[in-house]
Amino acid sequence: MSEAHQNVPVLAIDGPSGTGKGTIASLVASHLEWHTLDSGALYRAFAYVAVENDVSPDDVLGLEKLIRTINIAFTQTDTGLKIAADGRDITDQVRCEAGGKRASIFAKIPLVRQGLLDRQRRMRVAPGLVADGRDMGTVVFPDAFLKIFLDASASIRAQRRYNQLKEKGFSGTLRGLEKEIVERDAQDRNRSASPLIPASDAIALDTSRKGIVEVFDEVVTLIEDRLPAA
Ligand code: C5P
Repeated sequence: MSEAHQNVPVLAIDGPSGTGKGTIASLVASHLEWHTLDSGALYRAFAYVAVENDVSPDDVLGLEKLIRTINIAFTQTDTGLKIAADGRDITDQVRCEAGGKRASIFAKIPLVRQGLLDRQRRMRVAPGLVADGRDMGTVVFPDAFLKIFLDASASIRAQRRYNQLKEKGFSGTLRGLEKEIVERDAQDRNRSASPLIPASDAIALDTSRKGIVEVFDEVVTLIEDRLPAA
């Protein structure tokens, strides 16, 4: 990483799914006019392309080749982030629950995490970056000027996710969804490579009883305290 990159400020937002990380990250990035890194989208896209190419999680050579050749592009649009692999839009295929589950399986593999590290660090471009995921503050950007760890109870996270998915025609049950969310979190928290844990210098915010605007205001206050020019 060049010195120029190192000087670009990074806000790291980590936490399990359904805490509002992605929404807060994009609101804060628009407010500051900074870039965003949705690292979950990267893991989701990688896993999707791996499965499509019959590369299994234990196929070391296949994974290595994919890391070298995979062509994933992100584009910000009015309706959200569009994810493309080799020019094909795969947003809907990766944003579903199956996409999260698949991502979590490949995200356990140290080779995959290491292989995607540089790609994430290259997103650190002036005037600043808001990065959201599971290990932004612990591994990818340990020198982030502010690290936030968002959390909320599993039932509330499931309810939020259920409401989002219902709008897209999801036909599963709230109970089933909560079970899947709890299983995915356990897999993310208990893996040995970059587990989902707050960095020792992260500020924890519980969003269970807070709306997005309240969380956004708290995060902006924290940014202004650390970054007086913001
Ligand atoms: O954030 P999102 O739900 O899109 O992430 C999907 C999965 O990708 C997570 O459950 C996790 O397994 C993996 N992930 C990760 N590290 C990140 C971001 C996502 O392991 N920084």
